[in-house]
Amino acid sequence: MNTPEPFKIKMVERLNVLTKVERKKKLTDKGYNVFKLRSRDVFIDLLTDSGTTAMSDEQWGAMFETEQAYAGSNSYYKVKEAVSDIFGFDKFVMVHQGRAAENILFSQLVSEGDFVPNNMHFDTTKGNVLHKGGTPVDLVIDDAYNTGKEVDFKGNMDIDKLRKFIDEKGSEKIPVIMLTVTNNTAGGQPVSMENIRKVKEIAKEHKIPFFLDACRFAENAYFIKKRERGYMDTSISEIVKEMFSYAEGFTFSAKKDGMSNIGGMIGLRDEKLHQRCTELGIIIEGYPTYGGMACRELAAIAKGLYESTRVEYLEYRIGQVEYLAGLLREAGVPLVEPPGGHAVFIDARRFLPHIPPEQFPAQALTAELYIDFGVRGVELGTCAFGETDENGNVIPAPFDNMRLAIPRRVYTLNHLKYVAESVIALYERRDDISGLERTYSPEILGHFMSEFKPV
Ligand code: F0G
Repeated sequence: MNTPEPFKIKMVERLNVLTKVERKKKLTDKGYNVFKLRSRDVFIDLLTDSGTTAMSDEQWGAMFETEQAYAGSNSYYKVKEAVSDIFGFDKFVMVHQGRAAENILFSQLVSEGDFVPNNMHFDTTKGNVLHKGGTPVDLVIDDAYNTGKEVDFKGNMDIDKLRKFIDEKGSEKIPVIMLTVTNNTAGGQPVSMENIRKVKEIAKEHKIPFFLDACRFAENAYFIKKRERGYMDTSISEIVKEMFSYAEGFTFSAKKDGMSNIGGMIGLRDEKLHQRCTELGIIIEGYPTYGGMACRELAAIAKGLYESTRVEYLEYRIGQVEYLAGLLREAGVPLVEPPGGHAVFIDARRFLPHIPPEQFPAQALTAELYIDFGVRGVELGTCAFGETDENGNVIPAPFDNMRLAIPRRVYTLNHLKYVAESVIALYERRDDISGLERTYSPEILGHFMSEFKPV
């Protein structure tokens, strides 16, 4: 029997339902980019699981109670206690969100001409490496690109590729090796403890620091418990501790498994690097005990870190993702299998085989889903991760997926049933859906600002 919601609803927000004609006009006016819509014009918003969590009464309560101070608020010490308790780290730098952590850390570590290997970079991580003159390199196992193939730990780093890469480039050109848990870019796919351990060994052998991009650490830990031999009887908090024990540091967005609407941090073991990141943090984020946020946000994070590691919560959470994936799978909709921790990814290349990647099939599908049903997903494909050559031609990403990210504790199964029925209705009339032509493309982070028109 599945665990139902381990909470009950105390406050609700009204949803707005526009007509299809109204939605079509809104999206056309915004160049077919769903990021540019007003959220009140969206019925069910699966754009992201980041910063969209419904917070608990305990989090809100702690926010009211906290001291608001420039320096030394009690909320900072509560986060410190949670970070030590949950991650086993004593040193950390508070920042307002994950990408600020990436900016500060890479400013210290990455120089022009360096390479940063990762299983797979998320867009902001990739953007921040590029911004410091480095080259982000994705070394995930090949199975990650085979959307239909069922693999337990599809987020794993390819160990042979990593060894070869270090031999080729030389360890002095590699200031850090990262692992993103879970691998958001290719489906929210988990990384096994064995893989974390192996990456750590290789990093140690070459004296390269090893960091986690730990946004969805609790969801990753849950998959280790469920799928990896030897962890069935280990608690989530013990699994999390072990995962982090291999790392010299981590970047973290509290907007995901921090169960908060804002916040992030860099965890560090090295004293000097901690000092340098703290000092840079003061210039660009704020004094270390508030890190660019109101102290109440820190109070929410301190509570949220414990809430995301409760096994009954994770069972419900991953159960929701499985429920949505199950309805879609039954109707034959091509998915990234198995579904990951925070979202269902639909393979738009298999959904719309008549649309070539150069015409952004996942963006086209995302647009149709909004226009017809008011559901907002997001493209993770050629718009987000593709490139453009010197003649302006589109170089496709290795995949074109539409992600339906599930905000934490926000939607009911009935909402997800509506989402499934909407996608299935589109699947039934898929031959009528046409591709898009990009009319504007920024230099970096394409999917936020690009604009399109129908082909
Ligand atoms: N790393 C990963 C793996 C992420 O998924 C994100 C954000 C970040 C870093 C950056 O964190 O947003 O707090 O600055 N992902 C969101 C998403 C935006 O929708 O997947 P941030």
